[in-house]
Amino acid sequence: MQAISGAWRTEGHRIAFVPTMGYLHDGHRALLDEGRRRGERLVLSVFVNPAQFGPGEDFERYPRDLVHDGAIAEAAGTDVLFAPTVAEMYPAGRAVTRVTVGGLTERLCGKSRSGHFDGVTTVVAKLFHIVRPHVALFGEKDFQQLVVVRRMARDLELDVEVAGVETVREPDGLAMSSRNVYLAPEDREAALSLSRGITRARRAVAAGERSAEKILGMVRDTIAAHGQNTIDYVELVDPETLEAVNELRGQARLVIAARVRGTRLIDNAALSPG
Ligand code: PAJ
Repeated sequence: MQAISGAWRTEGHRIAFVPTMGYLHDGHRALLDEGRRRGERLVLSVFVNPAQFGPGEDFERYPRDLVHDGAIAEAAGTDVLFAPTVAEMYPAGRAVTRVTVGGLTERLCGKSRSGHFDGVTTVVAKLFHIVRPHVALFGEKDFQQLVVVRRMARDLELDVEVAGVETVREPDGLAMSSRNVYLAPEDREAALSLSRGITRARRAVAAGERSAEKILGMVRDTIAAHGQNTIDYVELVDPETLEAVNELRGQARLVIAARVRGTRLIDNAALSPG
């Protein structure tokens, strides 16, 4: 792997970029594979961004393993692995210039994670300026993040295509996440209730159910059946505006956030009537 070259863009190479916080798993690998297909140069960043963690969140204990990440990057055909330090990314301390996407970030995860999305959009804007990609790959796993970053790129004329990649799951259905290492083995069943709730919702829709209230009720019941779970939100939303939808008429997104004991998990899926 070589150093980032600003000349690539002027040389006409198509640059694909996968921003991550590392501790890579098969979900990240799917983003790299898609980037490899779409770009002539593939750049991966690994940076645990302090600006997107709130006080009391897991910045310090967030899992890190750059050696393992390097091996995955290499196997995926990554040309550049960019792993800056906090001091390199924020040389003047915390960024006082921040990128805020209004409205979209006040809903769903934004309600309980104040300032989180500002931290994400600020670091992603900085990374886009450093890497200057033509296409950037984001997972649908973090659906609100994908929508927010896409909107930032559009509103700020960033000249980068923000592409979504489908959620990669464990064989039992659990959405892959670097944070799954926090889950105790005895909490695995409780964690699976998120993806099982999605499956139940899908079946109900296939059987003709269109009422958001009924669909969401089923999902909530599935998750709440486990005593160690607390629901943050379960909503059916418009996939672009993230506004709540009452009746399933066109494309909608079922979005879920819940805590399994101390660990916050998110999951989501597309639902459509036909
Ligand atoms: P991180 O959680 O490391 O995720 C990096 C990218 O991998 C994100 O686009 C995320 O949606 C995607 N991803 C994670 N798990 C996935 C899965 N199971 N299937 C498919 N894609 C998955 O998201 C971040 O880092 C940060 O907020 C970042 C964008 C890097 C900004 O700091």
